[in-house]
Amino acid sequence: MSSTVLITGAAGWLGGLLAAELINDPRTPDLRLILADIVEPNAPPLSKSICIKADLTDKAQLETLFSTEFGIPDTVYCLHGIMSRGAEDNFDLGVKINVDSVRLLLEATRSYCEASVKFIFTSSLAVYGGPLPDVVTTSTIATPQGSYGFGKLTSELFINEYSRRGWVDGRIVRLPTILVRPGAPSLASSSFISAIIREPLHGVETVCPIGDSINSPELSLKSWLASPETTIKNIVTAKHIPAEKFLPHTRVICLPGFTATVRDELEALFKVAGQDALNLVKFKDDPVNRRLVSSWPSAFDNSYALSLGFAVDEGGMEPIVQRFWDRVHAVDK
Ligand SMILES: NC(=O)c1ccc[n+]([C@@H]2O[C@H](COP(=O)([O-])OP(=O)(O)OC[C@H]3O[C@@H](n4cnc5c(N)ncnc54)[C@H](O)[C@@H]3O)[C@@H](O)[C@H]2O)c1
Repeated sequence: MSSTVLITGAAGWLGGLLAAELINDPRTPDLRLILADIVEPNAPPLSKSICIKADLTDKAQLETLFSTEFGIPDTVYCLHGIMSRGAEDNFDLGVKINVDSVRLLLEATRSYCEASVKFIFTSSLAVYGGPLPDVVTTSTIATPQGSYGFGKLTSELFINEYSRRGWVDGRIVRLPTILVRPGAPSLASSSFISAIIREPLHGVETVCPIGDSINSPELSLKSWLASPETTIKNIVTAKHIPAEKFLPHTRVICLPGFTATVRDELEALFKVAGQDALNLVKFKDDPVNRRLVSSWPSAFDNSYALSLGFAVDEGGMEPIVQRFWDRVHAVDK
């Protein structure tokens, strides 16, 4: 049986990785991809793909995704978005992209697709804020302290409600911060979490906005992390879980992750690439950035996600830094 999958944000980092992973997913045979982004997406090699350049804040442009020669999708991956610092610095743009266009996409999915359509949304741990328990569980209430988390949570509520009404089969995956992100720094407040590994491994200086030196107590700032490899596998898994396995009152799943401090990251960098790499990390404390990242939780109970069949990274930071280092070397050769 063929599967038609729409991915929005397909020119982005995770959208591109997801398309590449799906074409090798044995549980999704005869895949046809509709790839959409405001930037022209690239089709993965040897895939059956249609690439559409569209501003998804515009209803008319968005609706073209549902009238391609591939017909109506059976799965919609909603990955387009504006990142945390971008949404914080420009409230109106953040709401337009992270809320209004998600609602437009949800409404178009409801109008054009079968009610069994899976609507999979990548949310974030930025939905949490305020006083939090040491370990966040499925019953921890989300009270965001930033515009990005506010936008994500608002969209989550719509997806939960559309699922409760039987209009779509929603799956909301709250992602940990994912590292190591390749390429140019993103507009995410968490961008430095990847940059302090990525840039030194490329032989480039970088500024860590947490603390003023390698000895700063601020480096004990903890984050909740996952690798791109595990996360993308989990985003594919989200498509295959039978609807009845989810908790009856919510389609939210916090994807598995692990806790690491900024210092843990720098130690892993040192172990993998040595003192020269570590010397490329400079420090300039940015209180706004630190406030946003500090408001996010740094430990979750993985048990619900694991019980559904999602995977978790093993071994902490070092294997992740090592894999990125190996990739940098493979490209250099
Ligand atoms: N990377 C992470 O650590 C992380 C963590 C939590 C959640 N997420 C979420 O996962 C999703 C993908 O993240 P990513 O890291 O690939 O981000 P990304 O910035 O690489 O990709 C987002 C894509 O959305 C597109 N986009 C933005 N506005 C658009 C519009 N109006 N119309 C069409 N396309 C538009 C951008 O062009 C971009 O290609 C996002 O929704 C993000 O909020 C990511």
